Amino acid sequence: MSEVQRLSKVTSLTGSINIPGDKSISHRAVMFGAIANGKTEISNFLMGADCLSTVSCFKKMGVSIDVSKDLVTVEGKGLDGLQEPSDILDVGNSGTTTRLMMGILAGTPFHSCIIGDESIAKRPMSRVTKPLTMMGANIDGRENGQYTPISIRGGSLKGIQYDSPVASAQVKSAILLAGLNTVGEETTVTEPHKSRDHTERMLRAFGVDVKEDERSATVRGGQTLQATNIFVPGDISSAAFFLVAGAIVPSSEIRLKNVGINPTRTGILDVLEMMGATMEIIPSKEETFEPVADIIIKTSSLKGTTISGDLIPKLIDEIPVIALLATQAEGETIIKDASELKVKETNRIDTVVGELTKIGAAIKATDDGMIITGKTNLKGNATVSSHGDHRIGMMLAIASCITEEPIELLNAESIDVSYPNFFDHLTGLSK
Ligand code: S3P
Repeated sequence: MSEVQRLSKVTSLTGSINIPGDKSISHRAVMFGAIANGKTEISNFLMGADCLSTVSCFKKMGVSIDVSKDLVTVEGKGLDGLQEPSDILDVGNSGTTTRLMMGILAGTPFHSCIIGDESIAKRPMSRVTKPLTMMGANIDGRENGQYTPISIRGGSLKGIQYDSPVASAQVKSAILLAGLNTVGEETTVTEPHKSRDHTERMLRAFGVDVKEDERSATVRGGQTLQATNIFVPGDISSAAFFLVAGAIVPSSEIRLKNVGINPTRTGILDVLEMMGATMEIIPSKEETFEPVADIIIKTSSLKGTTISGDLIPKLIDEIPVIALLATQAEGETIIKDASELKVKETNRIDTVVGELTKIGAAIKATDDGMIITGKTNLKGNATVSSHGDHRIGMMLAIASCITEEPIELLNAESIDVSYPNFFDHLTGLSK
């Protein structure tokens, strides 16, 4: 059901919040736990709709997963212990579930069928089906394996050296996971720019040897995963909404606690710094396989900047809210080399430019990004929509904190995909 939220300007945002668990890491913890030997306990798991889709798919393959508020417990089946599902695997809105699970299913000797929602049906899957087919998997899908529904009959695989045309952690992870199912052969993925390395880090935590250099990662097949306990740090992509809110709302100071600051994800912090934001990063002393920090952000006077190249994969999911940030910076902000935005949950060049234009932003779309000119007073009295995309919904909700008049946000329920308590946090900080 479509949820409509009427949202108005706030005077300030102050206080501290615990950012919910990282989506990428939560997915991986369940998947790797499922194919490991032994019991994996996951704390601070993200109870968002996407990660719950991963849980439901692996349950359908015979994995016992107990989800309670504080802990998710996965009884691992080992790499060859998954069972043929008697039902379709429904991934909902989740690209990460779809693509990483395909990597695992490519090496399992049974039939499975993956479907998802309307948005998933439009997202390109050949970037994964192609390399997995080269490895020997039998995969088919709509329009010659390009789109869901996808059907897979896995089997024995051979290692490949793959030059990926896109910097995508989902592609890299799918191939590396399939690479674990070869008989002692090496599989290497090289990317044009380095993408997030959560798979490499977590595989190591599960006892797998992964080699890495600047733009590539290699695994040898036949290694087993040993169960381990995983603490999921707060998701920097969720923190990004409140980092921007703290910087653009007057008289604000917000402390974001337990945020993952993996260097392959911290592009948003680089951009805030480049734009002149007042921010403090306090690294946690506790050691885990992912670095964690508290971040304090204050109302800032900002200047435009250029965001491109290697920086793009480090902040690809944050671009919608960075576009909002740029409307409050003096001068021009140019975002380029970001055509991947077109194949996210929505075409985020179109949805960001379309929705921000409705509230008075000076923003124009380019072929591989957008150009924003600031600083503009955002106006309300508008009906905007998430278009079913969680990050567009949250960006617009943060925009409403500074629009002169209230706005109406359609399809606000999509925010549950990655940040179910988003509005509680926003209300709790608002004055
Ligand atoms: C993700 C990788 C990114 C990101 C997505 C999560 C992951 O996608 O946009 O939200 O968990 O590996 P791509 O790999 O397609 O860039």
